Amino acid sequence: MEHINAALIESLGEPPRYRSVPAPQADPHHEVAEVLAVGIHPVTRAIASGSHYASSGTLPFIPGIDGVVRRADGSLAYVGGPGSGTMAERILINPRSAVPLPADADPATVAASMNPAMSSWIALHARVPFRPGQSVLVIGATGAAGSIAIKVARHLGAGQVIAAGRNQERLHQLLSEGADKVVSLSPDDDVTTAALAGAAADVDIVLDYVWGAPTELAMRAILDARTDHTQLLDWVHIGGTGGPTITLDGSDLRSNALRLSGSGFGSIDMQHAGLPELASAVASGALTIRPRPAALVDIEEAWTYQNSPGERTVIIP
Ligand SMILES: NC(=O)c1ccc[n+]([C@@H]2O[C@H](COP(=O)([O-])OP(=O)(O)OC[C@H]3O[C@@H](n4cnc5c(N)ncnc54)[C@H](OP(=O)(O)O)[C@@H]3O)[C@@H](O)[C@H]2O)c1
Repeated sequence: MEHINAALIESLGEPPRYRSVPAPQADPHHEVAEVLAVGIHPVTRAIASGSHYASSGTLPFIPGIDGVVRRADGSLAYVGGPGSGTMAERILINPRSAVPLPADADPATVAASMNPAMSSWIALHARVPFRPGQSVLVIGATGAAGSIAIKVARHLGAGQVIAAGRNQERLHQLLSEGADKVVSLSPDDDVTTAALAGAAADVDIVLDYVWGAPTELAMRAILDARTDHTQLLDWVHIGGTGGPTITLDGSDLRSNALRLSGSGFGSIDMQHAGLPELASAVASGALTIRPRPAALVDIEEAWTYQNSPGERTVIIP
């Protein structure tokens, strides 16, 4: 039997190991593709640790939820989805869900950028009825997904984009990456409340990468400061870096036009998420973050490496 090299999760919560595994075999619905680049995203680690709702928990398995491949006909494509197990030299793909990429696309940049970029792209395409000219607040804007969300909102025609986050230096940089205003999420709750009320009281859409206690505070600050409580406020939960839950008083829903939703695996049909258009924008360099390439053989070290803001580790098999 032919073998290939792959990353393999053998124990939940531990980094994958570099292993030899049986080569994938094509079937009537799937073709074998050569893997060119795979990003290590927060969701990749969360699924591999068993803590994500999309984790199957069945061991061993190949991690990786997306990647850039070269198809049998020589074309490039972006592929992915939970359970796709992309961190290997070759994988099986479903040609019907492969998103075509231009021949000159940089695989590492696309692999680094598609997952963070699609979080806001899908939210604004499929989870809220976004209209150009509306204002967007990004909470957790200093992370990879949050910082691309600013570019995505701008790209899609947002009227005003407000970036909220903790990292002062990164927040300041976001002013030259499309943010009109920044709000510092400081350790002082009163200072944060006043800053959010001043900058985002009448915002139309919140893209929330943080959740948990910071979201409880931000929601309170914005709802209390709204000029018109009947103006629709679409609050989209996308990430949970600040915690998995929030407490919400029912009276906040009755006394404001607050609409809560979430965006992630399971809440949208990926076939209708506008991914080909996003892939073109990413491949053109408009919506990217910086890849930090690492070889598959170095997977254990790459897995635990802490990216600096605006950078994402990408495995090159
Ligand atoms: N649903 C989707 O489609 C989708 C897609 C992509 C990502 N996500 C999720 O979105 C989240 C962010 O992803 P990412 O790729 O941007 O990760 P990342 O690059 O690691 O950034 C993490 C961000 O979270 C912030 N953060 C962490 N703890 C916080 C806290 N207690 N209070 C305020 N901010 C806090 C960090 O702020 P500092 O800079 O101050 O440390 C940073 O901005 C993750 O939960 C990820 O799984 C969801």
